[in-house]
Formats: sequence, C-alpha cells, structure tokens
Amino acid sequence: MSDEHDAPRPPSQSYGAASSLQRIRPVADMEKIVSLCKRRGFIFQASEIYGGLNGAWDYGPLGVELKRNVKNYWWQVVVHERDDVVGMDGSILTHPAVLKASGHVEGFSDPMIDCRTCKAHLRADQLVEKKGVKQCPNCGGKDLTEVRQFNLMFETHVGAAADEGSIAYLRPETAQSIFVQFKNILEVSRKKLPFGIAQIGKAFRNEINPRNFTFRSREFEQMELEYFCRPEQGMELLEYWKEERLKFYENIGIPRDRLHVRTVPDDERAFYSKGTYDIEYDFPFGRQELEGVAYRTDYDLSQHQKASGKSLEYFDEETKQRFVPHVVEPSAGVDRTVLALICEAYSEDQAPDEKGKMETRVVLHFHPRIAPIKCGIFPLLKNNTQLVTKAKEIVDLLRPHMFVFYDESGAIGRRYRRQDEIGTPFGVTVDFETLGEKDASLRDTVTLRDRDSMKQQRVAIKDLRAILRERIA
Ligand code: GAP
Repeated sequence: MSDEHDAPRPPSQSYGAASSLQRIRPVADMEKIVSLCKRRGFIFQASEIYGGLNGAWDYGPLGVELKRNVKNYWWQVVVHERDDVVGMDGSILTHPAVLKASGHVEGFSDPMIDCRTCKAHLRADQLVEKKGVKQCPNCGGKDLTEVRQFNLMFETHVGAAADEGSIAYLRPETAQSIFVQFKNILEVSRKKLPFGIAQIGKAFRNEINPRNFTFRSREFEQMELEYFCRPEQGMELLEYWKEERLKFYENIGIPRDRLHVRTVPDDERAFYSKGTYDIEYDFPFGRQELEGVAYRTDYDLSQHQKASGKSLEYFDEETKQRFVPHVVEPSAGVDRTVLALICEAYSEDQAPDEKGKMETRVVLHFHPRIAPIKCGIFPLLKNNTQLVTKAKEIVDLLRPHMFVFYDESGAIGRRYRRQDEIGTPFGVTVDFETLGEKDASLRDTVTLRDRDSMKQQRVAIKDLRAILRERIA
C-alpha cells in the first residue's frame, strides 16, 4: 500500500493444472523486454508517432489479451467464486467533495525538488547523495530548489464554464467510489458483514517521474477490493487477505520465492491504518511494490459520513448496534502485474532450427491461464487443401472455448518460434498422419506441442478440446 505516497491512503512454482511446465528463470534485461513488447504488440508508447506522451502506454493486440486475462482471473477469484463480494464500476470523473473528504485534495502529494542546472523536476527521494551532498541524478548538479509538495491529482473542468465551481478530478484510486457507494450497495446486495465491494478500473496520478516502463505511469489500472468488517475482525482479515493475494500471484505464474511481503513500518503507514503489507516482486530494476494490503480502519467511511452528512453506518440486526464498518483493502496494479508477468515469463534458451543447428529461442513462459493466445493451429503445408481444411475445422472446434491462432505461413519450426516468443503454451499441427495417409489408425489425430518442453504428443482431434481446457484452467 501507499505506493510511496503517504497520507491520505495509506521457492516454489505453482503452475496449477499445468504442472508439467518447467519454470525457467528470466533473463533480467528490461531493454529486451521493452523491445519484445513493442515488436510483438504487447505494449507501445502512447501517442508514439507524435513523440510519445510520457507516463502513458497503449496495449497492443497481445497486451490487451494478457491484461484482460489478468483482470478476468482477479474478478473470477475475488468476486465470482465468493458469496461475500460484489462488484461495481464507478465513474472516473470525481466530485471534488469526495476527494476533499478522503484527504486527497489536501494531502495526495509527493515532495518535489527542481534541479536549477538541468531543469529536471525530481521526487525528493530520487536525489543521489555523494559525500553528504545531495545531487541531481540526471546531471549531478548541486543547485537544487527547496522541497515543495506537488499534488498528484489531475484536475479538469466539467461543463462549459472553466471556473472554480466546475472543478472535477480524474480519480487517483478506484477506492473512493466504493466508499461513496457503500450505502447503496449494502442496500441492494443485502450483504452482512464481513463483505466486500470490488472494482477494476483506471486511476490517474500526475507522477513527477514516470519510469521503469509501465511500472510508474500517469494513467494505470487498479484492481481494488474494499472488504468491510467489524472493528475486531480487522487485523485477522488483514492476514487473511495478504495470504489470498499471495495465492493469486502464484496461480498466475509468479512463484512464491519471487514475491516478498514487506510490513510497512509505523512511520511510513498512513496515520489511520493499523497495519499495511506491501507485496513486492523482484523486477529486473529492483524489488518493488505490486500491491498494497491495508487495514484502513473506519477512516474512509467516517470521513465521507462527516463530510456528506449522510449516515454510512451498518445496522447489526442481531446485536441491534449501529456502527461505521472498518475496512481491509487489497489494492493491486493491473499494469504492474502484467509487467511482472512478462518479466517472470521471459527467457532465452537453445533450440534446434529446421536444419538441426542450435539457435537462441526467446520464450515467454506464461501460465496457460493468462497467456494471450492459448493454442496455435498449423497445417503442415499451406498448399495442401486437405491439411488446410482439417486445420480450419480444428480452429472452429476450439474457438468457442479459447483464443486460438491459425498460422500457415513459413516453415513449421518458424511458426513454433513465433508462438513461443509470445507465450502461446500449445501448438497443434495437422500433418499427413492426420489424413491417415501412412497409417489409418492415426487418421484424425494431430500433434500437440508443449511450448516449454517442446515435446509433441499425438492426440485424437475429438479429445483436443478437453485436453486443452484442462491444461488451461
Ligand atoms: N487505494 C489504495 C491505493 O491506491 P496505492 O499503493 O497508492 O494504494 C495501489 O496503489 C496499487 O496501484 C500499487 O500497489 C500499484 O500496483 C498501483 N499503482 C500505484 N501507482 C501507480 C503508478 N503510478 N503506475 C502504475 N501502477 C501504480
């Protein structure tokens, strides 16, 4: 939690069903990762043809699939598989009163310093210190301004009049709309404590220094759960949600030994939080926060109750007590999770080319659950009508159940490499045996190739759907 902002807010691989996969440690090289992301259509610089917009990123055809799979899996385990969580989708444009009450207007800021030499705006904690003297990390300049607070919220105007009365903000976190809609959702869902409200959506922060690819962006997505409870349940639920969230990352292919739980010390925690954990990941650029899990007490609901004058209390029918619920908040970044998945999945190994000569193979070892494309489908030759027809029948068979990709161009080895590089876990090849030309008993069978082991298995077309679905789930 508190992704370096203070108030007001505070060794094992687990490929699940696909346990045959070998985990290969990624090559920690951000340059290669950024280049692959662009080359294969995962992530592009926003507004690139105009020189780029700093801190904003566009996800390409594969990136959008990966991101969706992450969000869908989060929604599946946090909302659909539970009786005690419901979802919502709040607006991005936020009334200033909401963010005044939450403390963002006053305090959602980072300490900023300018370098008078190179004119860089710097976050105060990014200065380097040499022999006790603070310096600009860009030019080494020592002529620095005093620290001042820079509010990270993006302000805009609603309607035609651009005056004080028309100010609105792009939300800096999705959480506030959950607090503000607490009473409505409680009424319509008829949930009893403890229960949660989940949301996935965009958030905006005018970061002083966006950096490390998508890690620190100005526009990003969050997956947040506000889990409301009685005061006495807060600390226990903080532990519970920390463990649940660790399981989530393991289940999408980030092994436990690459995740670290940092107990946020008292002096770094938001004043209202009774306990906060940061779940961190070993990125190639260092150990950094993926998600915060914070026990925020009754701070947010109490603030909104005070400021709006509307009761946000919960009535306990058993004890006949009225009180403001407390809340535990697991708050994850979609973009950071996607970046961690790409970093974790990236590897280079040696594999034979068509002529048996060893070559470097770039592979993304995505867990099948989150891989953008689940299966490549290849006719051995593109100019053989029977092979092509059969392969297209397999596409039709699988398409209603998973995202598949048909590819007939180039040598089969090249086609496998192209899919390996984008993390497609399975490949189906239709060959002459499928047509029963050599051995009638092999008619209507195909080879099923595993991306990680590169092993091929002969399977009946009629079994393909079930086999793949089991390995992907
Ligand atoms: N509602 C609590 C909250 O927003 P946070 O620690 O500021 O807490 C939660 O943010 C998560 O959102 C972070 O752990 C991170 O994954 C993501 N996040 C925050 N700022 C980000 C940024 N500038 N770029 C990308 N992701 C960011």
